[in-house]
Amino acid sequence: MQLRLTMASGTLATVLSLSVLLLVLSPTSHAHNITRLLAHHPDFSTFNHYLSLTHLADEINRRTTITVCAVDNAAMNELLAKHLSIYTIKNILSLHVLLDYFDAKKLHQITDGTALSATLFQATGSAPGTAGFVNITDLKGGKVGFSPEENNGHIGVFFVKALEGLKYNISVIQISKILPSDVAAAPTPGPAEVNLTGIMSAHGCKVFADTLIANSDAEKIFQESLDGGLTAFCPLDDVFKAFLPKFKNLTASGKTSLLEFHGVPVYMSMPMLKSNNGPTNTLATDGAKKFDFTVQNDGEEVTLKTNKETARITGTLLDEQPVSIYTIDKVLMPKELFKAEAPTPAPAPAPEEAADAPKASKKKKKKAAAPSEEESDSPADSPSDDPADQTADENGSVRFDLANLGSMLVGAWLVVLSML
Ligand SMILES: *[C@@H]1O[C@H](CO)[C@@H](O)[C@H](O)[C@H]1NC(C)=O
Ligand SMILES: *[C@@H]1O[C@H](CO)[C@@H](O)[C@H](O)[C@H]1NC(C)=O
Ligand SMILES: *[C@@H]1O[C@H](CO)[C@@H](O)[C@H](O)[C@H]1NC(C)=O
Ligand SMILES: *[C@@H]1O[C@H](CO)[C@@H](O)[C@H](O)[C@H]1NC(C)=O
Ligand SMILES: *[C@@H]1O[C@H](CO)[C@@H](O)[C@H](O)[C@H]1NC(C)=O
Ligand SMILES: *[C@@H]1O[C@H](CO)[C@@H](O)[C@H](O)[C@H]1NC(C)=O
Repeated sequence: MQLRLTMASGTLATVLSLSVLLLVLSPTSHAHNITRLLAHHPDFSTFNHYLSLTHLADEINRRTTITVCAVDNAAMNELLAKHLSIYTIKNILSLHVLLDYFDAKKLHQITDGTALSATLFQATGSAPGTAGFVNITDLKGGKVGFSPEENNGHIGVFFVKALEGLKYNISVIQISKILPSDVAAAPTPGPAEVNLTGIMSAHGCKVFADTLIANSDAEKIFQESLDGGLTAFCPLDDVFKAFLPKFKNLTASGKTSLLEFHGVPVYMSMPMLKSNNGPTNTLATDGAKKFDFTVQNDGEEVTLKTNKETARITGTLLDEQPVSIYTIDKVLMPKELFKAEAPTPAPAPAPEEAADAPKASKKKKKKAAAPSEEESDSPADSPSDDPADQTADENGSVRFDLANLGSMLVGAWLVVLSML
């Protein structure tokens, strides 16, 4: 924790970029690469191309125990002739990724001759109800049929041959045609039509959504980011309501920045958030290390850390490439706006007390060794005058000597190691 906080220091720039580079280059858990596997099969180049275009390839590479039911270029051309939007094509192709491992042998040994498999279409939440399951039937004469569960047993698509297999991570097989599914082929709204504030309002973030609607500058930035990719984090109603007095206290540009701080200008699914820990730019970022926060795993949860707060992602309101919306349990407070304040505002501020004073003095009493100038206005850029740093010190963590580059290097590498 302590190490991460010091990352704000400009002197760490080189080390940091080195560690980011390392993260990018490191072989995380990518055991297979569907793009590369299918590249061995030129007859499937169109299918392969559309897996990349829809970003399904990323999702496939991240998962294990899956089966990709590929179709050849002729079958893909039939699909493309329907002139569906790329979002609808994504839904259709995601129905072709089974969340179980079926190679030729297993297909012909299905217990009782039939199995129902979940698919990526069903798993990513785009499919309503029970749509998104595929029924696999081992027919007489060695044929294996595939049918979306919604089609009530009508089988018109068959297993052709195995293409690739890495036991039991990924199997790539050919099926004769695109699986016919009216549900997957239904028109899908494009990202520009996503009603961000409408979705937030309907799912417990109405106060944040209303505040965003009232701020046309910030709303415009969110709206304009939809097409290129956007991840929005909306604080839940009780949390943002409690924060409103502080919000109202901000300058006009401060209000806009605070709202924009809750958006990230790229699409991030939950697996992406889990695998891409580190500093993250926001819609409010206007220069290196400005208005950024740190994404960090905490067990199975993902947290967003600023110098003031650690917010937890508590729910997913939308996750459809290129837009995702998550709920969080705290307002993200950028250090640029809340420098001089106490680390955590009490949810119900006691009216009589001068809210900040008692906390500060309590802290000071505990920290007998702390030099008193820490309490005064030290230079704005120094991270060490941040209350969050002091909190960390109370746990007895070794305090960083910013002048000691050697220990910083070790520290930064520890961070890198802990991220891997
Ligand atoms: C998968 O392979 C393709 C083609 O070789 C390459 O462009 C892509 O970067 C690879 N993806 C990953 C995640 O390694
Ligand atoms: C799959 O379809 C077959 C053929 O219509 C049917 O007999 C079977 O009950 C279905 N299996 C499941 C698990 O739905
Ligand atoms: C399957 O995936 C695991 C974990 O990602 C990896 O260690 C293993 O080598 C993979 N197996 C094959 C056959 O690729
Ligand atoms: C978004 O949703 C809200 C609430 O459902 C609705 O009032 C508003 O008109 C919608 N905006 C657009 C642009 O559809
Ligand atoms: C608003 O700002 C004033 C002046 O800086 C300060 O005294 C007051 O405590 C602030 N109120 C809140 C709720 O932050
Ligand atoms: C300090 O220690 C307590 C108890 O071990 C722990 O719950 C808390 O998260 C720690 N705080 C920091 C800032 O490391």
